[in-house]
Amino acid sequence: MPTQHPQRAAIITGAARGLGRAIAEALAAQGVALLLVDILADRLEETCAELKQTGAPATAFATDISAKANCTAAVEAAIATYGRLDILINAAGLMRFNHATNVPEDEFWRIMQVNAAAPFWLCQAAIPHLLQTQGNIVNVLSQSALMGASYIVPYSMSKAALLQLTKSLAMEYADKPIRINAVAPGAMMTEISTGTRPPADADFAKIKRYSGIRPPAQAAEVASVVAFIASPAASAVHGAVWTADCGVTAG
Ligand SMILES: NC(=O)c1ccc[n+]([C@@H]2O[C@H](COP(=O)([O-])OP(=O)(O)OC[C@H]3O[C@@H](n4cnc5c(N)ncnc54)[C@H](O)[C@@H]3O)[C@@H](O)[C@H]2O)c1
Repeated sequence: MPTQHPQRAAIITGAARGLGRAIAEALAAQGVALLLVDILADRLEETCAELKQTGAPATAFATDISAKANCTAAVEAAIATYGRLDILINAAGLMRFNHATNVPEDEFWRIMQVNAAAPFWLCQAAIPHLLQTQGNIVNVLSQSALMGASYIVPYSMSKAALLQLTKSLAMEYADKPIRINAVAPGAMMTEISTGTRPPADADFAKIKRYSGIRPPAQAAEVASVVAFIASPAASAVHGAVWTADCGVTAG
């Protein structure tokens, strides 16, 4: 039997910090109960405790989503805790700078597993529950799913795969009561670049092409777009990719 009985419940991956955390705050403000998923167990506990202090129903589920079994377990935990699932937000992500010719095999597959495969397995496990609640999925892409981006080739490939997961699932479920969408942010002020830097000999003129003219967004500015698309107010939005990149992909 579920331990709580909210009116709406969401899984948010990458919820320990950055955009995932900001999405958690935005959904909590809508009264949504949260299952917060991240590999950073301590940071996740802190975030969960801080959300709970604001009165939000929140549960931490620390796991590495690169394994399919852990994705399934996250969905099972949401059902065990809340008895329902209305929203799946795939916000966890991993980015590494490198010359394409220098990318090691383990780095390539890690990026693919976290950014592309894990959302697939989470969608697979979540869809039967989302169909019961007329729920929805929001996948967090990147502007690099929509444009070429130097020195982050595997990351761009993984986000393009997530784009096609969004569109293809939207078509497969076109006649069913479920919405599947994506948001494509540009640069945000988060810790995703921690521990990775452009190669020392990188041509910054190439990086500038996807850096944009406006300053990077705050995570909360993108989170509000994600929370809107996940809300009943966006009931006509299905199979869409919403950019939230401060104009980078405009031209
Ligand atoms: N920050 C940017 O400039 C930017 C731009 C475009 C898109 N994005 C996307 O936004 C999303 C959120 O990123 P962010 O900017 O908040 O960065 P972030 O690094 O702060 O957040 C990503 C989170 O994903 C978690 N994560 C990574 N691997 C995981 C795994 N194997 N299992 C579980 N959790 C894992 C991390 O621990 C982290 O908490 C990502 O999908 C990222 O690709 C970010």
